[in-house]
Amino acid sequence: MYTSERERELIELSKELLKNLGRIRTATKEEAGQIVQKLREVIRYHDYKYYVQASPVISDYEYDQLFRALRDLERKYPDLITPDSPTQRVASEITGSFPTVSHFAPMLSLDNAYTEEELRDFDRRVREITGEEIIQYSVEPKYDGAGIALVYRDDLFVRGATRGDGETGEDITNNLRTIKTIPLRADFSSFGIKLIEIRGEVLINKEEFKKMNQERLEEGLPPFANPRNAAAGSIRLQNPMEVAKRKLTAVVYQVSYVEPEEAYPKTHYEAIKMLHTLGFKTPYQDIKICEGIEEVIAYCKEWEEKRDSYPYELDGMVVKVNDRRFYEVLGFTSHHPRWAIAFKFKPRQATTRLIKVIFQVGRVGTVTPVGKLEPVQIGGVTVSSVSLFNEDFIREKDIREGDMVLVERAGDVIPYVVEVIKEARTGEEKPIEFPKNCPSCGSKLVKLPGEVAWRCINLSCPAQVVLRLKHWGSREAMDIRGLGESTAKALYEKGLAKDVGDLYYLKPTDLIKLPGFAEKAAFNLYNAIQQSKDRGPHRVLYGLGVRYVGLTTAKRIVQHIDSLWDLKDIPLERLMKIEGIGYVVAKSVKEFFSREENLKVIEKLDRAGVKLAKTALEKEGPLRGKVFVFTGTLDCCTREKAGEIVERLGGVFSNSVTSKTTYLVVGKDPGRTKLTKAKRLGIKTISEEDFLKMIKDYVDPKELEERKPGTLF
Ligand code: IVH
Repeated sequence: MYTSERERELIELSKELLKNLGRIRTATKEEAGQIVQKLREVIRYHDYKYYVQASPVISDYEYDQLFRALRDLERKYPDLITPDSPTQRVASEITGSFPTVSHFAPMLSLDNAYTEEELRDFDRRVREITGEEIIQYSVEPKYDGAGIALVYRDDLFVRGATRGDGETGEDITNNLRTIKTIPLRADFSSFGIKLIEIRGEVLINKEEFKKMNQERLEEGLPPFANPRNAAAGSIRLQNPMEVAKRKLTAVVYQVSYVEPEEAYPKTHYEAIKMLHTLGFKTPYQDIKICEGIEEVIAYCKEWEEKRDSYPYELDGMVVKVNDRRFYEVLGFTSHHPRWAIAFKFKPRQATTRLIKVIFQVGRVGTVTPVGKLEPVQIGGVTVSSVSLFNEDFIREKDIREGDMVLVERAGDVIPYVVEVIKEARTGEEKPIEFPKNCPSCGSKLVKLPGEVAWRCINLSCPAQVVLRLKHWGSREAMDIRGLGESTAKALYEKGLAKDVGDLYYLKPTDLIKLPGFAEKAAFNLYNAIQQSKDRGPHRVLYGLGVRYVGLTTAKRIVQHIDSLWDLKDIPLERLMKIEGIGYVVAKSVKEFFSREENLKVIEKLDRAGVKLAKTALEKEGPLRGKVFVFTGTLDCCTREKAGEIVERLGGVFSNSVTSKTTYLVVGKDPGRTKLTKAKRLGIKTISEEDFLKMIKDYVDPKELEERKPGTLF
């Protein structure tokens, strides 16, 4: 498709475009006409290398920069957009590119009940139509994800589709095949079933959802409002390999079609039990068979209470007549079956007015717009402010001050503007002006190439300094008790600390000057600061607040160096060889350690005796290269203390069992998850006693005895 000479040309052209991103951004319309053509040529080429040949020739980061340059120019000059521009692929092809398929049985919706009375009305109708005095119901959670229909023929998973319009959906078989909870083969023939269609829901658990949004924010993408949107977006991705990376799960809850008909399970409960036996994830453990509607109501209420502790988002309970014999006489409306109803939990969305937008400066200078709302109750919590993430988010949703907005707060997820109620506009609403200057220090804001956020790059910006001091003192960083945001602010305002290095030169007589600090508080803070000197290089690296370097990344980096000073000259390629560290993180570390101001802070820390290098034990210790995970309660000390010791002796302390784990140390009352995983992966499990034997020559028993006298060695 491309000759090697043409490939060389296109690679050269890509480099040139990347070098001139600044100029591209300010191009006049005439210049833009030519540039967009060049950008399109190179992007098409890189798409071909990446998707067709699976051998990209530029980093994802560079590709994104080219793509964004094209998108931004097209936004600036919309009449330059052509239907074949790579930017137009996202909307048109992604939505239209899955073949449509007809469902065996229409995927209807459910009728909703919002009150107990509405549930009783439903029961009355069912009893009237069936002539029964009391009805047996099967009650199960209502999962808030993306609906799917799975078809198995002769025991094989042959087709998976989205709900679509209910009659026809999109064929997403290849994407669904990547979800491990969907068996590719299931022994339906042992139940006399030749063909079966099953309904279910694709879900993302709340933890994964949080992580996914965190990553999206770091990449400058708008986060998903809720796990449902995240799941729905994920199953319709074009590349099944990308789908596989999203930690999706699928739960099935309804048999909608069976051949031959006689093989249909007699009750809903039996159907779920069959699916459960065949290895599907189902609501089996959570189903309750209720005799009459009052039992149903009690069970629904019980679940409403505990919905937050469930790992998946639920929006209600589904109440189904258990006995299939009644399905025919009850029948369907065009919208829903008359043998089932959803009891909806209290909604987690509400509309309110966006009063104004303020701009906050974060620790690394990112300026985030925050919407101030007329306070509104959502799911029992008063919401009065909401992050609007970045300028793109505001533009895409066309959010204006004074708008009525629909706000969602799903579970413990942060509030999110789902949409603007445009119909409610009066014409008085004001477009949101992004500031040109930092709201804290007034210096000019910049948008770095490839980023969506505006940033203040003045390292002495007061807002950033205060947040950096606070972060340094946080538990996972240097753990300096007493150094919260207000103390950090006071230290800065009194001119006592302009950076984290200054903290180590403060005397109790300085600290007593802080508002509300008596002698004792001053001494306590002084001691806490002094004691933090030995936390070790990975905590220092994390505490310095390098962009994209969380605690795990900091640990990984420190495993490959002796001292933080090594980061000054480390080649980018070496950093990128470290597991989990890509171009963006490596670049950010390099940039941080090349700035004079930062090196000065590190020097101050070094002079004060803050430990920047690994000790001999950490380098060559007895636990070197060994990865420890702990489960259950230890007699000798807390898990954190045990972790600290592991790291001091050169090992790695981790919270989750992976194929890289060397030992799982099992304490009292261990949880099942870690043990099962260790067993599956063949990881060695050892007792607390075994662990203590490994460390006993290197640890002063007093260190542990302080906590529990007499239990050691
Ligand atoms: S039964 C014809 N059971 O809720 C009835 N649906 O709001 C088939 N849903 O379209 C649906 N959990 O996507 C059923 N345990 C559950 C469910 C459930 C979630 C979804 C399903 C349905 C929607 C209706």
